[in-house]
Amino acid sequence: MTSSASADATAEIDGAIQRIRAGYLPRFRAASTEQALRDENAKILGKKGELTAILSGLGKAPPESRKAIGEKVNALRQEVEVGFQTALGELRARARQVELEAPPFDLTLPARVPAGRGHRHPITAVREDVVAVFRSLGFAVFDGPDIEHEENNFSMLGFPPDHPATDMQDSFWTKGGHLLRTHTSNIQVRAMLAQKPPMAFIAPGTVYRRDDDATHSPMFHQIEAFLVDEKVTLAHLKGVLAEFAERLYGPGTPVRLRPSYFPFVEPGAEVDIGCVFCKQPDGTRAGCSLCKHTGWIEVLGCGMIHPVVFENCGIDPEKWSGFALGMGLERIAMLRYGIPSIKLLFENDPRFLAQF
Ligand code: PHE
Repeated sequence: MTSSASADATAEIDGAIQRIRAGYLPRFRAASTEQALRDENAKILGKKGELTAILSGLGKAPPESRKAIGEKVNALRQEVEVGFQTALGELRARARQVELEAPPFDLTLPARVPAGRGHRHPITAVREDVVAVFRSLGFAVFDGPDIEHEENNFSMLGFPPDHPATDMQDSFWTKGGHLLRTHTSNIQVRAMLAQKPPMAFIAPGTVYRRDDDATHSPMFHQIEAFLVDEKVTLAHLKGVLAEFAERLYGPGTPVRLRPSYFPFVEPGAEVDIGCVFCKQPDGTRAGCSLCKHTGWIEVLGCGMIHPVVFENCGIDPEKWSGFALGMGLERIAMLRYGIPSIKLLFENDPRFLAQF
């Protein structure tokens, strides 16, 4: 490299530094948004920026002037950095001023209506309604755990050890003879062990079975109701059921009992109410697919408490008698609101829930 060539290169770099120094402030001030300002800053200081280009072209300058040029570039880098921060401060102050001078918010305007107000889940609503009916008849709430010992869930209730419900296939067993309770009937045992008759209790709770299809969920909800006193008969049970059906499904809702078997009641029955879907204005039922054209829909199981259950709990079956009933809340809710699949009750899709 001749001395005049290297002098040219040095002059060229000096010229470039001069141009940047003279131009950066007006360029920053011309930026009207923060983004534009940052872009302008990047054009000078960024990886492909003008100042960075000078540094990478330093090799063209004669070795003896490289140090001086590097110092100039670094000094300018700092100047530009300060200029950028100053311009940024000014830009923000201007934006704030515009905001302050704009017409003020009208604090008296009505608030936007919230996206949607929450409400009770259909299962909760049905549970509260059923509990209210029984409370008004003098029943008190009795609570118990979801994880229960086999004794309270099965054997004290008279289930034989080989009953299918006690099978691994049907129930969720944990450890040491414990399982997730398969029904709320365990509360009958707990209440009778804890208290002396007379008693009238209602027990809402979560129950678990190895079942999973359109009408069964492995976790679901039941309500148990039972009453123990002297001289309680099936007529008392029927009276309570009639009251329950009228209060939940409307006046005049008919009830019928069909003999059925549960180990802890004798006699036992399944209870049907007049179909809520095909009820006619005159009170008759036209028959529909939901009641399989019978006009009746099954809602719960019930019966007179078995003497063996009384004996197991230390209660004299000669003196005391009682009835018990148990219903699945999902079923009650599905009948009440015409819900076609039990899954809808567990998915918590807001579009579904908002309909109630
Ligand atoms: N526990 C029974 C069930 O889960 C229902 C029931 C309760 C039947 C009380 C009779 C008496 O199916």
